[in-house]
Amino acid sequence: MTTITVCMGSSCFSRGNSVNAGIISSFIQKHNLDAEVAIKGCLCEGECRKGPNIRINETLFSAVSPEGLEDLLKHELGVTE
Ligand code: FES
Repeated sequence: MTTITVCMGSSCFSRGNSVNAGIISSFIQKHNLDAEVAIKGCLCEGECRKGPNIRINETLFSAVSPEGLEDLLKHELGVTE
């Protein structure tokens, strides 16, 4: 099981994670990954300067833009199409 944690602190949220959260849940649905990938939110992780921040399992990804997010998800989740 992969867990994607989206920082929902006010800085990350306003800098892109409000959009990113929707992109991630659409991606999970589109690729039928419900059984393998869980998405959850977290409060500010104290890394606002680098935000918006997303964690995939224990790995922190910073400055995640909505434009690059799908490629990041494909790469990290091993989706090839
Ligand atoms: S709001 Fe995301 S690290 Fe602070």
